[in-house]
Amino acid sequence: MHENHRIFSGIQPTGNLHLGNYLGALRNWVSLQNDHECIFCVVDMHAITVWQDPIALRAQTREVAAALLAAGIDTKKHILFTQSQNPNHAQLAWILNCVTRIGWLNRMTQFKEKAGKNRQNSSVGLYVYPNLMSADILVYKATRVPVGEDQKQHVELARDTAHKFNNDYGVITFPLPEPLILGSATRVMSLRDGTKKMSKSDELDYSRINMIDDADTINLKLRKAKTDSLPMPDNENELIDRPEAINLLNIWIELSNSTREKAILHFAGRQFFEFKKELIELMISILGPINTEMKRYLMDPATIDSFLKNGADRARELSMPILAEVENIVGFLHI
Ligand code: TYM
Repeated sequence: MHENHRIFSGIQPTGNLHLGNYLGALRNWVSLQNDHECIFCVVDMHAITVWQDPIALRAQTREVAAALLAAGIDTKKHILFTQSQNPNHAQLAWILNCVTRIGWLNRMTQFKEKAGKNRQNSSVGLYVYPNLMSADILVYKATRVPVGEDQKQHVELARDTAHKFNNDYGVITFPLPEPLILGSATRVMSLRDGTKKMSKSDELDYSRINMIDDADTINLKLRKAKTDSLPMPDNENELIDRPEAINLLNIWIELSNSTREKAILHFAGRQFFEFKKELIELMISILGPINTEMKRYLMDPATIDSFLKNGADRARELSMPILAEVENIVGFLHI
């Protein structure tokens, strides 16, 4: 990837940060820091598109920040902050609300999933959620957005919105952002059902590994993880119609920085419990230290807050001239 890309990504503070968030997003964020300018955001304004208890929201915001710090986000070199502390996002989001078409939002699969049958009773915020996400990215003119599979459609919408803005006003203000979907675990599935995404909102805690889970809990959850009765595959074809086997194998591949071929060769013909033993050891060796560090941060909320405050100051500074440029193009009077 070219060095000049500016990276933006966000994560919701809605509790239960899990292995999917870690493998689909966090881990990639940490490695992108080495050769890119990065901006990472805890998106509390997105969180309130569905009801959040205010006390829990505050605690979860710090918890997510602690996880990011513990996973290795470097706040000296990069920006980490909470969305609500930079009002420029909301201001740009309003302008983008006037650019994006209703028909575009109607196609968003996440809204359909989240609103479900209750569409008429969903918040308007949930509906225009993708426009706030576009604003998050575009208010920094970010060009690459590392996300898991499930956010791809939203980043593509940001791209379409940027393009329409440029076209409508005859400018080249916004670069067209692209999703970066990295690694072999771009869609980590539930441990109870290999056809369902691992998710924060699943009622079954056994369906996911939480970043706050200790070694014993990880051990127990993986031992209980659903599998089929066949041994581990010895070729790619034997993975067909085995969603749980594919999911666990992908997790192992990602955690060990390996490849599908090597993984199949390594475990070929062995029983699931043997594979699980190796997976458990590997996962604990990686998540264990992060878990310890995360808990250390959580005992010291003042330090978390000072990192977030510093990040918000830098985020405002970076986005201010970009918002001013956009407002000027739109025709707002700057007095
Ligand atoms: P959120 O908070 O649901 O998830 C954060 C990141 O984790 C990824 N992810 C997964 N990856 C693999 N397997 C899974 N099971 C899994 N579950 C979640 C998500 O793809 C995401 O990358 N709308 C976003 C947050 C957001 C944002 C942004 C992202 C707001 N503004 C601007 C990028 C750019 C969300 O709800 O992610």
